[in-house]
Amino acid sequence: MRQKFVAGNWKMHGTLKTNEPLLRDIVAGVVGWREVEVAVCVPFPYLTQAQSVLSGTAVAWGAQNLSERAQGAFTGEVSAVMLQDFGCRYVIVGHSERRSIFGESNTLVAEKFAAALASGLQPILCVGETLEQRDAGKTLEVVAAQVEAVSNRVGVAAFSGAVLAYEPVWAIGTGRTATSAQAQEVHVALRTQVARLDGKVADGLRILYGGSVKPGNAAELFSMPDIDGGLIGGASLVAADFLSICAAAAR
Ligand code: 13P
Repeated sequence: MRQKFVAGNWKMHGTLKTNEPLLRDIVAGVVGWREVEVAVCVPFPYLTQAQSVLSGTAVAWGAQNLSERAQGAFTGEVSAVMLQDFGCRYVIVGHSERRSIFGESNTLVAEKFAAALASGLQPILCVGETLEQRDAGKTLEVVAAQVEAVSNRVGVAAFSGAVLAYEPVWAIGTGRTATSAQAQEVHVALRTQVARLDGKVADGLRILYGGSVKPGNAAELFSMPDIDGGLIGGASLVAADFLSICAAAAR
């Protein structure tokens, strides 16, 4: 049985002042849950705050990006070892905003994934198609290529220390969610792709859905057999909404 997993992706939101009650409310709300693991991925400057509020609680934390390089003269970059220093368990790699706005290629995403693993962080690898690609019937081809770039680089066994997130680009921040059937179709395809390389790794691999997950649609999405939780953007900034989504995963 895969333990469900709900992770918040705060993106570039928050202040020291507003983060504090948000983190504390989340901690207060998840006490005692075993069926679901909960994490928040915060902006780099708030990792120290996340570490101080969340240490010793049931809520894990992580970052939203990292450098593919270990160290050196790379102004503005943040390494996996630095994330380790702040107690991160997770790091998001290949989010569609990084791919589309910051030009991250499949190859770079694979390097980042490898860098995260090498430092003992668990990468949350995001894959997903644009609306144009969906309309052209290319969804499964696009996500397969995104996963393949990583499995070719690190080998399939590496996925036992990672999480996959299917995030259709057209559903992110748009209020338009994939139907549970649409998401399930892609999740099965992703699991089958990994299973072709290693059935055991595929069975244990948590595949999250992300894209306008809200309290009102979470339970339906999480009831699908291959949807193992969610990667939550906007709704993770409101403690009550995030907790309600976590509760839907715990059922
Ligand atoms: P929203 O939940 O705001 O659509 O964002 C999803 C997302 O991009 C999570 O990584």
